[in-house]
Amino acid sequence: MTDDLFSYRKEPDIGTRLEQLREQVRYHNTLYYNDDAPEISDGEYDTLFKKLVELEKQHPELITPDSPTQTVGTTVKSKGFEKYTHQVPMLSLSNVFSREEAGEFLERIYRFLGKTPDGSIALVAEPKIDGLSLGIHYINGELVTAVTRGDGFEGENVTANILTLNTVPKRLPAPFPPHVEVRGEVYMDKEDFLTLNAAQEEEGKKVFANPRNAAAGSLRQLDTTITAKRPLKFIAYAFGYVEGDLPNNPDSQSGLKQVMEHWGFTGNTPSKICKTLDDMMDYYENTMTGRPDMTYEIDGIVYKVDSLALQERLGFVSRSPRWATAHKFPAEQVETVIEEINIQIGRTGVLTPVAKLRPVAVGGVIVSNATLHNEDEIARKDIRVGDTVIIQRAGDVIPQVVKVLTDKRPTNSQPYTMPDTCKECGSHAVRKEGEVARRCTGGLICPAQAVERLKHFVSRDAMNIDGLGNKIIRDFFKEGLIKNPHDIYKLSETNETLEIPIEKREGWGELSQKNLFTAIDNSRTIDLHRFIFALGIRQVGSATAKRLARHYKTFKDLRQALTGMKPTDDNEAYQDLIALDDIGPMMAADMIDFFAEQHNRDLLELLEEEITINPAEDIQVSDSPIAGKTVVFTGKLEKMSRDEAKATAERLGAKVAGSVSAKTDMVIAGEDAGSKLKKAKELGVEILTEENWLNLVKINV
Ligand code: IVH
Repeated sequence: MTDDLFSYRKEPDIGTRLEQLREQVRYHNTLYYNDDAPEISDGEYDTLFKKLVELEKQHPELITPDSPTQTVGTTVKSKGFEKYTHQVPMLSLSNVFSREEAGEFLERIYRFLGKTPDGSIALVAEPKIDGLSLGIHYINGELVTAVTRGDGFEGENVTANILTLNTVPKRLPAPFPPHVEVRGEVYMDKEDFLTLNAAQEEEGKKVFANPRNAAAGSLRQLDTTITAKRPLKFIAYAFGYVEGDLPNNPDSQSGLKQVMEHWGFTGNTPSKICKTLDDMMDYYENTMTGRPDMTYEIDGIVYKVDSLALQERLGFVSRSPRWATAHKFPAEQVETVIEEINIQIGRTGVLTPVAKLRPVAVGGVIVSNATLHNEDEIARKDIRVGDTVIIQRAGDVIPQVVKVLTDKRPTNSQPYTMPDTCKECGSHAVRKEGEVARRCTGGLICPAQAVERLKHFVSRDAMNIDGLGNKIIRDFFKEGLIKNPHDIYKLSETNETLEIPIEKREGWGELSQKNLFTAIDNSRTIDLHRFIFALGIRQVGSATAKRLARHYKTFKDLRQALTGMKPTDDNEAYQDLIALDDIGPMMAADMIDFFAEQHNRDLLELLEEEITINPAEDIQVSDSPIAGKTVVFTGKLEKMSRDEAKATAERLGAKVAGSVSAKTDMVIAGEDAGSKLKKAKELGVEILTEENWLNLVKINV
């Protein structure tokens, strides 16, 4: 159970009792943090921990420095690691799964830069290591902080654990900038993983499913001495936050790698410069062949545009860079049987058929569900209950049914038909002409939709209340504790009136209850775009929510503009809305509908009493000549694509509109500009040629 035992000279009975308690707490800590497999409820753990604290209080002379109460503080379970906000978000990579998709990625790059695909852009190809991403901060050359990725914006401070890795330099050899963050992957070699598992098994501890899990479990140890014994390694592949200049001012990805290697990091090898799709595929095939001989697990290839100047021009699309992508190795496929087909109801009432599978292991995890998408998909593949099927799991996506093995089909099998009523509320489930989705018409009376809306409301890109997991939401909804988002903010008050308060329930304890209320309270101050997204308006995703936030600035202005908005040609507010990039009349209609519903307006009023919505800040871009301005592009641009022009404008703090109005500050007119240019002239709006524009934003093409 534990590695070390202690003996005490004084009061042996109490000493023994104390050590037993310590040992128990340590044991459960390991199960909880290390193995993700607690054996007791949070409540039971709290009781145990409290006992230890109390006994130590009575016998302070017996407290040992390595007692769980001392090593990790009294709130061990709730506290864990300190949070750390990344100065530069840790984003993820888009995926491609075939030569065709890799080709599209390459073409997109050329297209975005307004070039023809002529092999002039070099890409670096390197292995995609299957571990956990980490950022290591060096201030004045000294390792000060190491942070996990977390949700990409906020990670956990795991410095003490990273200091135990000998592939991570503790000091950088000069020269180095005042502050630099080196990013890379923490992983475990395949052989080390097997050895660790053998030892775990020997000691009767849980074995890990794969090297990645083992690395994760080892990194997230609150007890550094355990991490120190685990053979974790680090490979560097990128820089995060950099203040000052890197040595030799590298201008390429390959140059960055040289800097990292010079500083003593292990760089990512083997890497290769590719100019064509054939080069990329060669590297991909070769690496796949050599994969079994590599000492660690890789799950694909990463292609990165080599030039840093081009990387900057290409920028990012929501959560991933345009200048890089991951080419995943083919998904593992396995055979299993469909035991049932169940229907899940989404937040907007869409019925999604899901296959319940005979559980099988695919790619290191046990899979027991696969999405069947919709009724057309089921019909196309003729999927039936009882069928033996091939399923696959690619990356982190939900497993899919690839095909049915019809020769193994039971003789009595029947084609599947979608239900025409909602199993949750009994309302009709109808499929409108021209739509693939069948929807429950129950709206507000459908409990399934309500639960899904709540799940969406608390989700990561929305209010981000991580204490409110799916099961808790379902339970609290069933009980009537949380019926709508407002109830979440009244939960601690409601709790006071309950016969059995939350902390007294199975699976709960004082600490977990406190954590939940803290998580809820932390979401009481929220950025406007997250709040808009949280509302779950049909079609309004995270990117649209950001656009709306940037445009309307405050929730009040958004609400006032949309409430009772008339979608007419002569309504300025409406024209303003649909002039926003990527917002068309259909999406506008969904937004107007949302604000037209009295119950939504009532809910918003209640919510606004509970939470503070931060207004969207203008992007502060020093030296930007276009910050805060509204610009319109028209005609054909020669030197860069329309997409790049728009992305550049937004990066420099401008708003890009789709049509010219009195609010337009600037029109950039390319070749063959037509009616928009004419209108700009009529309104006296400033007009720039492409050349003027490039000079203004200082881009050399
Ligand atoms: S570069 C802006 N290079 O894959 C993102 N990532 O799916 C830059 N990863 O979060 C990431 N090997 O944890 C990069 N050679 C490699 C990588 C790599 C593994 C991980 C990384 C990232 C995830 C994205």
